Amino acid sequence: MVFKQPDKNEFEQVKQLVEEFWLFNENMQPKQFSILSDKGRVIAFGRLIEHSEATELCTMGVAKEFQKKGLGEKMVEHLIRMAKRDVYLVTILPGFFAKSGFKVVQDYPDSLRKKVEICTKEYHVEEPYFVMKCNIQ
Ligand SMILES: CC(C)(COP(=O)(O)OP(=O)(O)OC[C@H]1O[C@@H](n2cnc3c(N)ncnc32)[C@H](O)[C@@H]1OP(=O)(O)O)[C@@H](O)C(=O)NCCC(=O)NCCS
Repeated sequence: MVFKQPDKNEFEQVKQLVEEFWLFNENMQPKQFSILSDKGRVIAFGRLIEHSEATELCTMGVAKEFQKKGLGEKMVEHLIRMAKRDVYLVTILPGFFAKSGFKVVQDYPDSLRKKVEICTKEYHVEEPYFVMKCNIQ
C-alpha cells in the first residue's frame, strides 16, 4: 500500500470526495494531502495542516465502497507517522480516532479552538464535536 501526494487529477478527485462527504475544505493544497489510489482512482485521503502552534489532522475520508476495510485506520496511522509534533484534530467520531491512539483533550491551542467554532457554525450536525490529541514520541 503506497501513500503519495495527489497529482493534479487525483487532487480533483479529492476535492469531489471532500464535497461528497461535506468535509472542511478551506485552503486545501495538494502538498498537505496523502492519498491511496487504486488504478488511478483515489480511494482514501487525509490532510495535515501546519498551524503556527500546532499540527492538525483533518479532511480525511475513504471512498464509500472501500470503507470498513481498515483503510481509514491505515491513513490515520500514516499521517501520524508523517507528523513531526503532537497531532490534534476536531471530530464527531472520537471512537474511530481513539483506535489510533487519539485522546479527547480539553486544553488545546487557539487554532483548534477556532476550528471548533467554524465546525459548530458552518458544519453544524447533531453530534457534538470533540478535540483529540495524539502524542508524537
Ligand atoms: C470515518 C472513515 C474515514 C472511516 O474509514 P474506514 O476505512 O471505514 O475505517 P476502518 O475500516 O479503518 O475502521 C477502523 C476501525 O474504526 C472503526 N470505525 C470506523 N468508522 C467508525 C465510526 N464512524 N465510529 C466509530 N468507529 C468507527 C471500525 O469499526 C474499525 O474498528 P475495528 O478494527 O475494531 O473493526 C470513513 O467512514 C469515512 O470516510 N467517512 C466519511 C468522511 C468522514 O466522516 N471523515 C472523518 C471526518 S473527522
